[in-house]
Amino acid sequence: MSKTANNTAVNSFNSNHSLYDQFRPSFTPILVNPFLVELGLADQKGDKFTFKTDKKIVEIACGTGKFTKNLIDNGWISNLTVVEPSKGMLETFQKNFPQIENVINASSYKIPLEDNSVDAVLIAQGFHWFADDESLKEINRILKKGAKLGLIWNFDYSSPSQDSNAEDSKFYNDGSRYFNNLDQKGNNQRVFENFFGNQKWNEEVTKYIWGFDVNVPQYRHGKWRQVLLNNNYFKKDISDSFALYDKLTSKEDVWKYWETRSYITDLSIDKKEKIKEHVETIIDTYANPDSYDPETKLLIKPMVLHAVVVTVNK
Ligand SMILES: C[S@@+](CC[C@H](N)C(=O)[O-])C[C@H]1O[C@@H](n2cnc3c(N)ncnc32)[C@H](O)[C@@H]1O
Repeated sequence: MSKTANNTAVNSFNSNHSLYDQFRPSFTPILVNPFLVELGLADQKGDKFTFKTDKKIVEIACGTGKFTKNLIDNGWISNLTVVEPSKGMLETFQKNFPQIENVINASSYKIPLEDNSVDAVLIAQGFHWFADDESLKEINRILKKGAKLGLIWNFDYSSPSQDSNAEDSKFYNDGSRYFNNLDQKGNNQRVFENFFGNQKWNEEVTKYIWGFDVNVPQYRHGKWRQVLLNNNYFKKDISDSFALYDKLTSKEDVWKYWETRSYITDLSIDKKEKIKEHVETIIDTYANPDSYDPETKLLIKPMVLHAVVVTVNK
């Protein structure tokens, strides 16, 4: 019998899909467009991108469609299939994108598609939930020879997930005021530690919230990277690209953003209220005049989008 999707994922995403849709970040075209080129799904001439919408693509773990929006905006409709195990997430997905007909309620462990039938598989903010041999075997099965798997995540702080060399990576600036001072040398974990060090309030809130994610798979644990480096279904070369940006946010929305994490969604109302208060205390303690955007007076939260591409081994 094949494995099934993680219960914490499916339950929490079943209950918080509308909040998730509202407060999770989107994916900047500054990185997504070259990511699609690398995946063989677009061509680039100067600043102009053309998308090969005749290519058949599958997005696994589409959720409410936060990443799917980029694909639809670039013209994919009938050649796009989305796969998602949470009925709640799919309910919001179908409200957001009624034009997408190929919607499958299934998991990475059993994808009801033909062998060798797909030009690329994409997974946004999700591969950490099913980073294992069983999923990679199933993705390998549906991909055509030479096709690619693309993974993409927004992240909040440096971690073993960026255990790669800055010299081998591509960096894009999506309007971060800290980009020009970025030292793009050595291990990427260190590069991003410096980047995130620009806003102490964000560092402290992130580390506090991370204290609650003991038992659930997360991007930041970096297990997914080890799995990619040690499997027979994909070639070992991992291509990393990063886009750096400053998200402007109100104090209230900092909490709403973190509340959508599966391991926070699952807690009792009382516990969540206490965490919310503590998050606000941290912001009051560490935010200083440089923490606010002078024009909007909103807090500056440094963020990074990470794209990864690997090629199928068949
Ligand atoms: C953090 S959400 C990401 C959703 C969306 N891709 C986005 O970028 O907003 C993670 C998604 O992974 C899905 N998921 C968890 N385990 C899965 C599995 N084994 N196969 C497919 N999807 C899975 C969850 O149901 C959830 O919708």
